[in-house]
Amino acid sequence: MKKYNNNLNWRYATKKFDISKNIPEVDLEQLLEAIRLSPSSYGLQPYQVFVIKNPELREKLKSAAWNQPQIIDASHLLVFANLKEIDKVYVDGYLDMIAETRNQTREDLSRLETMLDNTVLKFSSEKKNQWASNQAYIALGNLLSAAANCKIDACPMEGFEAIKFDEILGLKEKGLTTAVIATLGYRSSEDKQQYAIKVRKNKEKLFNRL
Ligand SMILES: Cc1cc2nc3c(=O)[nH]c(=O)nc-3n(C[C@H](O)[C@H](O)[C@H](O)COP(=O)(O)O)c2cc1C
Repeated sequence: MKKYNNNLNWRYATKKFDISKNIPEVDLEQLLEAIRLSPSSYGLQPYQVFVIKNPELREKLKSAAWNQPQIIDASHLLVFANLKEIDKVYVDGYLDMIAETRNQTREDLSRLETMLDNTVLKFSSEKKNQWASNQAYIALGNLLSAAANCKIDACPMEGFEAIKFDEILGLKEKGLTTAVIATLGYRSSEDKQQYAIKVRKNKEKLFNRL
């Protein structure tokens, strides 16, 4: 655990990536697996992740992300896009997947189905979108911890225009919208941010032990 926290202390939101370094495919797969294994409300995973290497595409996206250089300098750009609408068809697909994976019948899952009918499917469109975006952020958090633990640098980013990202990536047609993005790679030795002392609330201010 100490090593885990040391790695969290090692990580920082990287501002300048070493453009000559690429994440080996085997490590990238492990990071994607950490995303895949992320928990989500009811397990619905209401998002998709776009793993972007293509330089031309990233150049376009950079201009929709306040021209932040990480978008093109990093080894990879990940776009977390959440479902805007969760409907019965989506929920049914999920229930079918559980039934198949766990060798259960759909009747076995009737309680879960009722619960989903009475909760997520009853959310307003706005709440569905917010809820789905929240789930994508959990996956982002997992990615950041996983990356730190294999000494891969990352920068989580909200500094972008979702409407433009959606347009460039054709997300609207897929019922998706950009929730948050992250760049992954290796820090440049010139990135001064790596030497900045971490600023965090102390435990007294953060935790309330009751
Ligand atoms: C959701 C989220 C969005 C962020 N957006 C940006 C961003 O657009 N550009 C950037 O350089 N840093 C961004 N950051 C980095 C934060 O500023 C940084 O995590 C915070 O200041 C704490 O510093 P540390 O991560 O280096 O320890 C973002 C972080 C999070 C978690």
